Amino acid sequence: PQAIKIKIRQSVTSRGKRVKVSGWVHRLRTQGKDMKFIVLRDGSGYLQCLLTGKLCHTYDALTLSLESTITIYGVISELPAGKTAPDNHELLADYWEVIHNAPGGDDAFTNKLNSESDPSVLYEQRHLVIRGETASAVLKARSAIMKAFRDHFDDNGFTEINPPCMVQTQVEGGSTLFEMNYYGEKAYLTQTSQLYLETCLPSLGDVYCISESYRAEKSHTRRHLSEYSHLEAEMAFITFDDLLNTLENLICDTVERVLAHETTRKLVYQLHPEFVLPQRPFLRMDYKDAIQYLKDHNIKKEDGSFYEFGEDIPESPERAMTDQINKPIFLCRFPTEIKAFYMKRCAEDNRVTESVDVLMPGVGEIIGGSMRITDMNELLAGYKREGIDPTPYYWYTDQRKYGTTEHGGFGLGVERFLAWLLKRDTVKECCLYPRFMGRCLP
Ligand code: 4AD
Ligand code: MG
Repeated sequence: PQAIKIKIRQSVTSRGKRVKVSGWVHRLRTQGKDMKFIVLRDGSGYLQCLLTGKLCHTYDALTLSLESTITIYGVISELPAGKTAPDNHELLADYWEVIHNAPGGDDAFTNKLNSESDPSVLYEQRHLVIRGETASAVLKARSAIMKAFRDHFDDNGFTEINPPCMVQTQVEGGSTLFEMNYYGEKAYLTQTSQLYLETCLPSLGDVYCISESYRAEKSHTRRHLSEYSHLEAEMAFITFDDLLNTLENLICDTVERVLAHETTRKLVYQLHPEFVLPQRPFLRMDYKDAIQYLKDHNIKKEDGSFYEFGEDIPESPERAMTDQINKPIFLCRFPTEIKAFYMKRCAEDNRVTESVDVLMPGVGEIIGGSMRITDMNELLAGYKREGIDPTPYYWYTDQRKYGTTEHGGFGLGVERFLAWLLKRDTVKECCLYPRFMGRCLP
């Protein structure tokens, strides 16, 4: 009979029919002279195929190698108990052909790349590494999570915007700016789209974006990239408590959406078997209590002294605290001096801001958010404190002139969120082609 062309993901529903499938040779095992087992991969799934008798004796069959592209024709049937294969079925080939034969043998891909490989080799050869089961599962899970984020915001009445990446303002500190030549003028790759989101509130209402942000991070850590996917949202007429509740909903709802689908739930548990959904409400802890926590638990600076109120809590003590507490933490109300120029001060305590960092076990900070200054003069004082020339910020300042209101928002690092959810060692595993100091290829 005529073969129906299918993708591997359709193979369960195509059992019993004659099909045509094309893909890459993912695994290859020869048994005796008359049997070859091929696990075929097409990006939509894995399918075990069996070549028997004469089909194994051709030159193409004898020289077939991993990663070659082939087309196979035959009927898929369920395997008897005791035999295992993906989806518990197998395609018995009646015809097959090679599209392109990969080198096989001593080739770097087949020999050099495995779980023992040096990370630098894995990043250099990432275009081949992504063909692996783990790397491709992470990318599939990432796609599902991006959809869940969008569905969450869509169902909550947010409008998605697409802000520019080339900008002439700095927001999160001058030390991590990537500078570029913009027709002879100085410009930067954006660190955050927050300021643009704020300008959309009066025209579009609550807004969000998923855009690339750029940080010239000079440190090699497990959680810093030079280019990362930044999910940001901004809301008007809210309080700081509303902001915290929004974050709790976002995290729980997105994860619930991902787990609600059979295929994506499998991906999450394949990568992170012991994952448990965090319990609401999340722990809310003020910065000043974190400083006290570090003292109480004897977490010190390298020079042996304690962190004092007003000092930034760096990555290592933050991680130590988060891993000890071992559940999500909303770390709130940071001192004005260690936070960005736009953050609103607390009415109860003028020294601190209505700000929050969401800390996750195993990763640390995955979200930074705050309420924003609503008063024009306060904002001008903020620029001044940070040594920022207000001139190119005129459009941002204008928001405090034409109908100002309480508003706030946040930014979530997509790769950090994934590193937490999928329990990856580093954010570099959670994007397609990671960019970090020393690597801009492939
Ligand atoms: O805390 P950040 O710097 O906050 C902002 O940019 C705000 N303007 C966001 C807003 O309110 N709209 O960055 C937000 C998040 C961090 O919590 C972290 O998850 C991620 O962005 N992030 C990075 N992820 C990977 N590599 C880096 N170098 C990152 N820098 C920040
Ligand atoms: Mg931050």
